[in-house]
Amino acid sequence: RTYRICTLPGDGIGPEIIAEAKKVLAAVGARHDVEFVCTDQLIGGAAIDATTEAGGPVSALPDTTLEAARASDAVLLAAVGGPKWTNTNAGAIRPEQGLLAIRKELGLYLNLRPVRMFRALVGASSLKPELLEGVDLLIVRELTGGLYFGAHEREWGVEGAGGNGARGEFARDTMEYSEYEVERVVRWACQAASRRRGRVCSVDKANVLETSRMWREVAHAVGAEFPEVTIEDMYVDNASMQLVANPAQFDVLVTENTFGDILSDEASMLTGSLGMLASASLGDGVALYEPSHGSAPDIAGRGIANPIAQVLSVELMLRYSLGMDEAADELSAAVTRVLDEGWRTVDIADELTAADRVLGTSAMGDKIVEALG
Ligand code: NAI
Ligand code: MG
Repeated sequence: RTYRICTLPGDGIGPEIIAEAKKVLAAVGARHDVEFVCTDQLIGGAAIDATTEAGGPVSALPDTTLEAARASDAVLLAAVGGPKWTNTNAGAIRPEQGLLAIRKELGLYLNLRPVRMFRALVGASSLKPELLEGVDLLIVRELTGGLYFGAHEREWGVEGAGGNGARGEFARDTMEYSEYEVERVVRWACQAASRRRGRVCSVDKANVLETSRMWREVAHAVGAEFPEVTIEDMYVDNASMQLVANPAQFDVLVTENTFGDILSDEASMLTGSLGMLASASLGDGVALYEPSHGSAPDIAGRGIANPIAQVLSVELMLRYSLGMDEAADELSAAVTRVLDEGWRTVDIADELTAADRVLGTSAMGDKIVEALG
């Protein structure tokens, strides 16, 4: 069968790493008798330049890109942004607007951040190796509700709840969730856990917050639909501690927007390198897969960027949009094998790495394809 993939190279190292993702996809397709038709579309600075050249309207997300994304089976994005588009006057369109717009237009309400420790890289982390052995967790973050999307207000001359009677400026952010918003995210987390190690840790602050008390009730009601999954609750302050004290205990963590923002950044530092982390944003339709890092303008065009985060975003796409779990497992095993054999890009090389094992972007892509067999 055929899958249509909307590829968005974007800016900086984007075109270099997405080329490797396509190489890997072609190899996966050959093994599984599937054809991936990848079509490049413009986003970010590249789109700003192209639409400017065409005489406008200037856009970081042209309609043609959005239409192609909607008509595809999945969207694979590299990264956007760079110094070229930051020093312009106020009101100028910025590359990052393209990203925000596509997330919004595709209705992506859930963000996934897998954090997996590749055993070959354990020594390169600043945390104790014995803590990192076996770390393989998935953070599921609600992305369109909660504190970030409630009312944000300022008032003058009111007395705050925690005040001492003084009247002055007052600010209020509102955390709101509907049962439905919680349900769809927790259900997704339970489904993911049932294909993993069967454990969901639902993170909240139910000792203080009403939204968290509802979150907890809904989480258990949804969890009851999945007899093969165990649901455990954890307060967010404890979870942030457990993530560094004993990260291997976690399988799937599910949480609301703000907690998820903070915990996923914390967790991403467990494994060390930005060049190794992928993420996915999902909704009810087409999903978006991307590396967690940016466009790395400092190394763009030099052929030394690490393509692994982008390749791991392909793994997520195979698993969560295309239902190709076996191919996803093979791809993850191929990356593990390449690292076990000592192959590195410069960003993940250390003093123990043999000089002849340090590869450029394209050679690393070739190694992964070779390891796929
Ligand atoms: P960055 O993630 O692009 O780079 C941070 C550092 O990590 C740099 O030294 C870079 O060389 C290195 N790095 C990143 N990815 C790498 C890879 N695959 N291989 C080897 N080294 C890698 O973050 P920075 O420098 O803060 O932002 C650069 C541009 O990217 C900015 O315009 C920013 O707005 C944009 N950005 C875009 C994102 C996206 O498209 N989702 C996310 C974050 C930043
Ligand atoms: Mg963040």
